[in-house]
Amino acid sequence: MEHLAVIMDGNGRWAEKRHLPRLMGHRAGAEALDRCMHYCKAAGIKYLTVYAFSTENWKRSEEEVSGLMKLLSGFIRSKEQTLVKEKVAFRVIGRRTDLSEKLQAEIAALEEKTRGGEFTLVVALSYGGRDEIVRAAMKFKGGTEADFAACLDTAGIPDPELIIRTSGEQRTSNFLLWQSAYSEYYFTPVLWPDFDQAEFDKAMESFAKRERRKGGRLGR
Ligand code: FPP
Repeated sequence: MEHLAVIMDGNGRWAEKRHLPRLMGHRAGAEALDRCMHYCKAAGIKYLTVYAFSTENWKRSEEEVSGLMKLLSGFIRSKEQTLVKEKVAFRVIGRRTDLSEKLQAEIAALEEKTRGGEFTLVVALSYGGRDEIVRAAMKFKGGTEADFAACLDTAGIPDPELIIRTSGEQRTSNFLLWQSAYSEYYFTPVLWPDFDQAEFDKAMESFAKRERRKGGRLGR
């Protein structure tokens, strides 16, 4: 598999179960993301895309929104050296002009510093699939599907073969609408902060089985 995408859902419930503020759930979610990146690399995956903040998430409480923004900017600052050392390219998709100018500048600097890495971490921020398609349509001068795909935020990134959603919800929630045309989905009740190596392995195994079945049917 070249590209795995994840809807990291359930941080809030993870925190509530422990009588902790929701933001602690997001913090634990950021740690789970760190671990997931390592599982992906070890499995030979080249791209990991995660849904960190949707266009809808702006409707959450001011406290939660500003906490999430702080978490993101902290992630960018604290991870810079590790990402460079581990040859991880950082890339953001979404309506980045919605973000503060400071955060936009931090993102652009990190993208520049990590360009050409062997593994790519794509973070969807103020992201909505329909919004991305509308912005691409405004840039599109006509042509083929491939020409249109080159107008999307994900230009140059292969489509994800598998999309995982945690916490038991079974919706796409406006994530990678164009790019998921042929993606497999894997849903698990596990809350994102609890997503560990065993859960990752289960998702990979389920994907491999589906690939094998497809292979059989097509006589490949
Ligand atoms: C969904 O859980 C999760 C989010 C809206 C935020 C995801 C963000 C992170 C994991 C932060 C780390 C990201 C980076 C790039 C540092 P929810 O709050 O909707 O959970 P709930 O459905 O249980 O309330």
